[in-house]
Order: sequence, then C-alpha cells, then structure tokens
Amino acid sequence: MQNKKHFIIDFDSTFTKVEALDILGEIALETHPGKEEAIRRIKEVTDLGMEGKISFRESLEERISILHANKKHLPVLVNRLKNLVSESFVRNKEVIKKNPEQFYILSNGFKDFIIPVVSDFGIKPENVFANDFEYDTDGNIVGFNKNNILSSNNGKPKQIESLKLDGEVHVLGDGFTDYEIKKAGFAKRFYAFTENVKRNAVIENADHEAPNLDEVLYHHKMERALSYPKNRIKVLLLENIHEHGVEKLRQEGYTVDVHPAGMSEEELKEAIKDVSILGIRSKTNVTKSVLENANRLLSIGAFCIGTNQIDLEECQRKGINVFNAPYSNTRSVVELAIAEIILLMRNLPDKAAAMHQGNWDKSAKNSFEVRGKTIGIIGYGNIGSQLSVLAETIGLKVVYYDIEEKLALGNAYRCHTMEELLGLADIISLHVDGRQENKNMIGEKEFSQMKEKVVFLNLARGHVVDVQALTKYIKSGRIIGAGVDVFPAEPMSNNDEFISELRGLPNVILTPHIGGSTLEAQKNIADYVPSRIMDYINTGSTSGSVNFPNILLPTLKNAHRFIHIHQNEPGILAEINRVLAQHDLNVVGQYLKTNEQIGYVITDIDKNYDEEVIKELKKIKATIRFRVLY
Ligand code: NAI
Repeated sequence: MQNKKHFIIDFDSTFTKVEALDILGEIALETHPGKEEAIRRIKEVTDLGMEGKISFRESLEERISILHANKKHLPVLVNRLKNLVSESFVRNKEVIKKNPEQFYILSNGFKDFIIPVVSDFGIKPENVFANDFEYDTDGNIVGFNKNNILSSNNGKPKQIESLKLDGEVHVLGDGFTDYEIKKAGFAKRFYAFTENVKRNAVIENADHEAPNLDEVLYHHKMERALSYPKNRIKVLLLENIHEHGVEKLRQEGYTVDVHPAGMSEEELKEAIKDVSILGIRSKTNVTKSVLENANRLLSIGAFCIGTNQIDLEECQRKGINVFNAPYSNTRSVVELAIAEIILLMRNLPDKAAAMHQGNWDKSAKNSFEVRGKTIGIIGYGNIGSQLSVLAETIGLKVVYYDIEEKLALGNAYRCHTMEELLGLADIISLHVDGRQENKNMIGEKEFSQMKEKVVFLNLARGHVVDVQALTKYIKSGRIIGAGVDVFPAEPMSNNDEFISELRGLPNVILTPHIGGSTLEAQKNIADYVPSRIMDYINTGSTSGSVNFPNILLPTLKNAHRFIHIHQNEPGILAEINRVLAQHDLNVVGQYLKTNEQIGYVITDIDKNYDEEVIKELKKIKATIRFRVLY
C-alpha cells in the first residue's frame, strides 16, 4: 500500500502571494503619519526573520508593536488575502477540496486570518497550525499567545514533531523556518516554493525547487489542474527576440532561456536537447541534423515571416508544429508604400539630394499631387488590400489585379488581366508573393504596356522584377520614379556592399529591405507568435500553423483532451475510436484534420481514464506523437 502523504504548507508568500502582516500594516496604518516608514520597517524585519538573520520571536514582537492593528481590521485583511491566493493554489482549488485532510497550513502567522482564507479550499481549522493574537478590551492587537509553540524560535519543527503524523511529511514554503522542519528530521522532503519570492539561502537548502503547486503535485503523480507543470516547459529564444515576447512566455510560467545571437548547427544541436519550444528569426537554420536531437521539441516559433530556414518536412515527420508571423508587419509595408508614392510623385529624392549639394532648384516640373491619380496594385493579398484602403483615403483611385478571386475593398476596381491594369495605372505597386512562377513577372513586355510617366514600386520580392528592364525604362524617362526595397541579390550582412544597376538613377528610392522593419512590427510579431504557441500548448489549437492542418479548438471545461498526431494513413481515426470504445470512454467532441503528410485528431472525453488507454493510443500504427491536456 502507498505511504500516506501529508503536505505541510506555509501561508505567507506561499499559500498567498503576500506577507499578511505587511497588508495588515497597510490597512491599520492607513491614516497614520509615519505609515511609509512603518511599512518599510515591517517588510525589513519580515525579511530578516525569513532569512534567519534575526530570531523569529524578535521579528514577530517588533512587527506587532509597529502595526497598531485592531480586531476590526481583520475582516478587511481576510477579504484582501482571499484575492491574493497564489495562482497555482487557485488553479488547484478543486483538487485540494477533494482531499483536504492531506493538506496542513503551518505558519508563524495568525489563525485569526488564516482559517477564513484556507477554509474556502476545504482545509479544516484543525489542520491549521499558527499563532493567536492577543487583544485588549478595545480589540487592539497587543501581542500574541506566547504559550503557542509557533511563537517560539524553531516553533515549526516542534509543532510537526508534536503532531506525530503517520506517513510521509512534505514541506512547502518560501522561508528559512520551513526548511528548519526538514533540517530537524521531521520531513522527508522540503520544497522551496518560489512562485512569489525566491530566497537563495532557502533554495540552496531545499531538496527541490517548486515554482508552483503544479510542480509538487506532478512530482507526486497526484491529481492536478494542469497535466504538465508549465515551468517544466523549457523555451530557448535566439537572435534577440523582442523583450515583449520573452516576457509573455515567462509570464505563462515557462522556463525561458534567452540568447542574443543565432547559433551554429553544432551549437544548436547541443542546446536543443531538452527544449520544448524554440524561438528563432531568419538567421538560425533548423536542419534535419538539429532536429535529430530535438526529442522534446513541441513547437518552433519563427519570429519573422519566412520559414525557409526551417526543415518543415522533418518537423512534420517529428510532430513539431511551426508558427510564423505573416501579418504582423503588413501595416509597416503599406505606410512605406504610401510615403514613397507621395515622395516620388513630387520628385523629392532628387530635390532633397540637390539641396544637400547646395543646389536651389525651385520648380514645379515633374511634381504632381496624388489626388485623382490611379494606383494599380498587383497582388491583392494582405498588403495589397490594405494599401488599397489607405490609398483611397488620400484620394487615389484604386485598380487591382490578382490571380485569385479577391473581393474589392472600398471603391477599388478589379482588373481582369494584368495588361488591363498596366494600361490604367499612373502608379504601379507590386505586392505579389515570391512563388517561383513569379520570377521576372514584370519585365520588358510589361514595362512596355505601362502608360507614359509612371511611378513604379517593388516592396514585395526582388526576383519578381527584371531589374535590367526596369533600369532601361527609368533611363528612358518612361518611368519617372521608382521605389525599390527588395532585390534579386541582397547583401548577406550590413558589412557587404550593395551592388545594383539601380544605384545613381534619377528619382529612385532604394531601401535595404526594410518595408516591414518597424519597432511596432517587431512588437506585433513578439505578441503574435507566443500567443499561437501558447494556444497550441494549452488547447491543441493549430490555427496559423505553417506545417500542421489548421484547427481552431474550443477551450474545454471538465473534460480531458487527447491529441493524436499521425502520418496521414487511412483508418487511424477508426482505430482511435476502437480503443476509446474498448475502454468505455464517452467522447464529448472530436476533431480531425489532415494535410498531405499528417493527420491531427483531437478527442475530448468526459471522465477519468486509466493509463492503459494512453499506452494503447500511443501504440496505434503511424502515431507520431500523443499528448494529453487537462
Ligand atoms: P499575400 O500572400 O497575402 O498576398 C499575395 C497576393 O499576391 C495573393 O493574393 C496572391 O494571389 C497574389 N499573387 C501571387 N502571384 C500573383 C501574380 N502573378 N499576379 C497577381 N497576383 C498574384 O502576401 P502579403 O503578406 O500581402 O505580402 C506580399 C509581398 O510582400 C510578399 O512577396 C512578401 O514577401 C512581401 N513583403 C515584403 C516586406 C518587406 O520588408 N519589403 C515585408 C513583408 C512582406
């Protein structure tokens, strides 16, 4: 028979996020002139006691004398504390309520406020061991019961000893007095609880650091709110990912490791071994050989648009879900396009350059308003369609052409052929994707079909324009202005020279592929990618995935979710359902989506399952990965 387990839990900064006497001080001293100084001293004395630097009794006596608290303050304190219970305790409230006799509160704080807070979790008053206040006849708190063991130095071990608990004793706490129980030999294990505060002196002496209650419950294979504690999910972020993204993943409770630079294949092969989530930008190559070592990897976040630096096929084979941020910089590209259109229509690049050379050339020649002109947008996707809306607001007429059926926004007119568009537009802006068939899609023939004196923009991909032809048409004056942000061959780094026949041509704005490079876009990316990853980890949702079939799943309450990833072969769903039926499990929801390579099946069941069913589901042929949520 399994040994009975008793969990001895500290109250201040463990069960709750705060030190209750600090809060009582804030309430009692609210109108007191020396409030700030008194609260500072209460905190200081608390810490000195916690770290074992002054005796516990000294610390308690001093704090009570500064407090000036009264019985009437206690209901206010209890209300505040109820809202300040540590997140992982709140998350596991129902679990504690099911077996409250296993949980004890052992605190140097006071029963007067602890019992009302923990009783919401089903913990009985007889399982609460703490001090008692002493009041005078007006209800003022004037001291504490000095006969209570817990008011003495080393009180916690003495209290546990006196309980003579039958079975294993495990202690969770953030302070030195909690460790003393283990030190005195009355506990099997001491967990340094670090969800709210981290005290190195305490962590060093602990058997195990517990960043939350989930970790302790997981460690003991007990029922719990989360199937897998989030702190056990290791995240590796490379290439200086925006701090907003780092913070978001940390706040979720993951253990996040950050590296400013990229990593070579060899370095990454080593670093990836125990990583569950990898975040990269465009410089890190996630090759097949890296993935061979990535046995815990669940997801890769590409904090950029492109994903060709990642071996997507191999990721799929291993059940690793890849996300990117395709729309986060759309607005940035659109704003740059609008700015360039206005600058080029006024011949500003040349005018500004001439001024810097000392030349004053005041003239309206080749300067036009954009109002009433026609812009032709080729590629009416995310960027093209948003440009359409913004262009109309500054008075441009919009015509567009897309190979796919795209609904017109605002008053835009959809051209049936590209030729039709080329014959109508005064300004032509390219926003097609970089698929191979689009190589040189704008060349000699297309330039020759344009009107006289057009402004031309390419902020899409370098290889879609024949640069030689563009150069010729600029030199001939047929194109009166051009904005080019992307090039067939771009320098590898900021140290390499930019070589192009477009250099030095009149009224041409050349920019180093910065259409999407704004701080706002970086922040959007840092927001979007972690959200997708967290959704995937928490609900199984694959919405926005680059290499998994996309499913947006409902969040689930009071059920378990089985996630099964398999190679796309016939009969797997039937096989899953056969196993579930054999174990008499009631399916409350099931979702299946496949792509050419893999199938993704989500099954929600409404009651507890035994481990056998998991083993059998994992054994189904063609299974790549299996995960249980909740
Ligand atoms: P998207 O995929 O949403 O839209 C592309 C559209 O082009 C689609 O509607 C597609 O049907 C259409 N299309 C493809 N080939 C075509 C053709 N031959 N003729 C007509 N239409 C065609 O892409 P999104 O997000 O709007 O991006 C557009 C381009 O902008 C991409 O090439 C992307 O790489 C580039 N980009 C450039 C940035 C920069 O820093 N300069 C930043 C972000 C994106």
